[in-house]
Amino acid sequence: MTTSNLRINLDRLLKRIEALGEIGAIDGGGVCRMALSDEDRRGRDLVVGWMRDLGLEVSIDRIGNVIGIRAGSEPGNPVMTGSHIDTVATGGRYDGNLGVLAGLEVIETLNEAGITTSKPVGVGFFTNEEGARYAPDMMGSAVHQGMFDVEDMLSVVGTDGSVLSEELERIGYAGDVPTGQFRADCFVELHVEQGPILELEELGIGAVEGVQGISWTEYKFGGTSNHAGTTPIRFRHDAGYIAGAVSVEARRIANDMGEDQVATVGVSELSPGLINVIAKEALVTVDLRNTNEAKLQQAERTMDDFIVGICKAEGVSVESRILARFEPVEFDRNMVSLIADTAETLGHKTRRMPSGAGHDAQMFAPNCPTAMIFVPSRDGISHNVAEYTEPEHLRAGADVLLQVLLTRSD
Ligand code: HGY
Ligand code: MN
Ligand code: MN
Repeated sequence: MTTSNLRINLDRLLKRIEALGEIGAIDGGGVCRMALSDEDRRGRDLVVGWMRDLGLEVSIDRIGNVIGIRAGSEPGNPVMTGSHIDTVATGGRYDGNLGVLAGLEVIETLNEAGITTSKPVGVGFFTNEEGARYAPDMMGSAVHQGMFDVEDMLSVVGTDGSVLSEELERIGYAGDVPTGQFRADCFVELHVEQGPILELEELGIGAVEGVQGISWTEYKFGGTSNHAGTTPIRFRHDAGYIAGAVSVEARRIANDMGEDQVATVGVSELSPGLINVIAKEALVTVDLRNTNEAKLQQAERTMDDFIVGICKAEGVSVESRILARFEPVEFDRNMVSLIADTAETLGHKTRRMPSGAGHDAQMFAPNCPTAMIFVPSRDGISHNVAEYTEPEHLRAGADVLLQVLLTRSD
């Protein structure tokens, strides 16, 4: 059999997605496997077991990234694929998990066919891609590729007050492999689109050309608690009013700027959080994204100027902290073309497109030829227990991944 006719085993892939999805399973068919939680440990143990069963040489680095390498006939930087297996608290079974498990399926397909590639082939999963417990997101891959300092990230304090390094020790994934030194021959990540485009255009494969810029900021507002009934409006210093105004302003900025600008207030916590007490404190997060760096900076300035003005008028203090900031990333044109051409050769209707979500691949892009393969998300839903991708789309994505990795590792 020529390798161009080689195809993955869909049932095997579906069984692994099912098995991993049972760990941290929540109502509605979703998953909660927050980074470095007990569920994350159990998910890691399951995937590392599969890596070892497949004969991969497994290594764990100082921030818990796990890399499995299949030797080639020649030494050298491995052709890499992978993604993440941590999820948001209300996540789906496919975000991240598909990229890791399809990588294992490629390895098993190569093993079954008795194929020895020239270059080594590797599959990895990276710590804390989601950033929902420990900001920033894509943390593990950023450390892995030398963008972030490992000591800085090990000392990050989570939304629950835990220290990242202590949780990493607790779950047994504080590895000893130094970070920032690993170089891949190339990196290809398979991921669900998490948006509506492929489904709306009835396409099976997205050849991803890049990732938009991401800006995460946490704002803490300090006002004055007072009686909701007796305090005239002009005497108020209402942190709750500011929090609500920031949400409205976020949507106004996105609508005003149009095109690719998106803005999200995902966290908005008031204290003391009582019906008849004017909020003394508020904690709000703002997620701004744009494919264009200058426009993203414009959105950040507009939001900051708004907050300074409204807090001054209300007599409320503000402290801000940048939680994540990534400029837009362009993927390697040749890799994008290889993905698009491979998908078309396999008979899948394909388009080139940007990614609205951040991904581990963007951390490899400065260091090696990198690109991504998208498959459709039903109703464009993600970061939601209803996240779903049809098995035939999973098959298509994994087959494209297989053929791209074969081409690159030949
Ligand atoms: O936020 C993101 O784009 C990714 O899910 N971490
Ligand atoms: Mn993801
Ligand atoms: Mn995600």
